[in-house]
Amino acid sequence: MFITYKTNASLDLDAAIDLYRASTLGERRPVDDRACMQQMLDEADLTVTAWDGDQLVGISRSLTDWCYCCYLSDLAVRVSHQRHGIGKELIRRTQAELGPKATIILLAAPAAVDYYLRIGMEKHNSAWVLRGGRVLKD
Ligand SMILES: CC(C)(COP(=O)(O)OP(=O)(O)OC[C@H]1O[C@@H](n2cnc3c(N)ncnc32)[C@H](O)[C@@H]1OP(=O)(O)O)[C@@H](O)C(=O)NCCC(=O)NCCS
Repeated sequence: MFITYKTNASLDLDAAIDLYRASTLGERRPVDDRACMQQMLDEADLTVTAWDGDQLVGISRSLTDWCYCCYLSDLAVRVSHQRHGIGKELIRRTQAELGPKATIILLAAPAAVDYYLRIGMEKHNSAWVLRGGRVLKD
């Protein structure tokens, strides 16, 4: 399998949605909301994509200030291309774009918890989220 990688490539919305679905990440991302998906691509600070010829087979999509923190929101590899090192390479290339002290932060999907441990990321036990629409207590 010969895979090429691109940083901040212009991405076709349908190809990106197809990748999210083909990786299963689409089950937890708003793939039916095309406007939101387009905005997710447009407003990302950093995307690294993996290509098998002309086919988009992987993505790492992040929001970052480049020096302190980088939220890796979406990491996805087509099921047909998983377990060939593509996910790890996408994270490596994401980190390579950041300053040396920047920390990559992400929320693991249930099926990927063991993955992050295996590739050498550190589990954080005090991550907190405020979901859209939830209000803070008085
Ligand atoms: C998680 C995901 C991105 C991993 O990508 P990938 O290209 O298949 O992973 P890699 O080939 O880089 O795997 C690196 C190592 O982790 C292992 N691994 C892969 N997926 C794993 C999993 N779910 N659990 C545990 N280990 C896993 C691989 O076997 C490999 O081990 P090795 O180095 O000993 O051979 C991919 O499985 C995926 O897209 N999953 C669905 C979407 C998802 O859950 N994304 C994460 C959202 S937080």
